[in-house]
Amino acid sequence: MSRKVAILGGLGNGAVVAAAIEHARRLGATDLEVAGFLNDRAEVGEYIDMFPVIGRLEDTKRLLDEGYWFINTILRIDGNRERIAMFEALNIPDDRLASFVHPMAYVAPSVQLGVGTIVMPNVSMSPGTKLGKGSIMMVGAMMGHDNEVGEFCHIAAQAAVGSYLNIGKGVHIGLNATVRENLTIGDYATLGMGSVLTKNIGNNEIWAGNPAKFLRYAN
Ligand SMILES: CC(C)(COP(=O)(O)OP(=O)(O)OC[C@H]1O[C@@H](n2cnc3c(N)ncnc32)[C@H](O)[C@@H]1OP(=O)(O)O)[C@@H](O)C(=O)NCCC(=O)NCCS
Repeated sequence: MSRKVAILGGLGNGAVVAAAIEHARRLGATDLEVAGFLNDRAEVGEYIDMFPVIGRLEDTKRLLDEGYWFINTILRIDGNRERIAMFEALNIPDDRLASFVHPMAYVAPSVQLGVGTIVMPNVSMSPGTKLGKGSIMMVGAMMGHDNEVGEFCHIAAQAAVGSYLNIGKGVHIGLNATVRENLTIGDYATLGMGSVLTKNIGNNEIWAGNPAKFLRYAN
């Protein structure tokens, strides 16, 4: 029997993740079935790509009672603290956060995926890495070995992330960025698209460029 999943979000990440789940479902590779989106910025009944908006964020309580599972895709690229707090305030129990690994991803057997994590097609995750609750590996991202990745991180498409890293909570690693091994990236930090990171990043800092330099603090 399939598990009905409500995706928090919509335009952008939400629709992208929903389509990947639907693709996997058609391949017979997941028991998740996307019911639609929970979204405070769209009309209920409106379609976003393939799926309708089925409610507002406040409807999570009702949908919990109705047996739904949940996936969170709401994020902000330049400082994600408030969006994560908003999600945490919904108090969705961990055992109702669905994780999803697309069948075209490589995830080494010793990788530990937290609840509510998403691993998209063409991702590669090497041994000994832990991906925290609610974190997302977008299409084609590469994650090295023996990394500690915190909760609600977003590793954008085609990012190449080295090994022995300590990545905090709510970190965004930009599209096609590269991260050297043995570094620490602080909570709610952002690394810009296409950047090459060779130094540690502190909490709330936004770095960009090649080599990446401090740009500003997250709002
Ligand atoms: C780093 C980032 C958050 C900065 O955004 P911002 O604060 O709006 O920055 P601005 O666009 O105002 O740019 C400020 C300066 O930094 C430079 N800059 C911005 N992003 C850069 C990047 N990734 N690499 C190099 N330089 C960059 C700009 O060219 C500009 O330089 P200037 O002052 O000499 O003109 C953003 O550019 C970025 O990279 N976002 C990530 C995109 C991404 O990963 N998308 C995934 C989609 S899910």
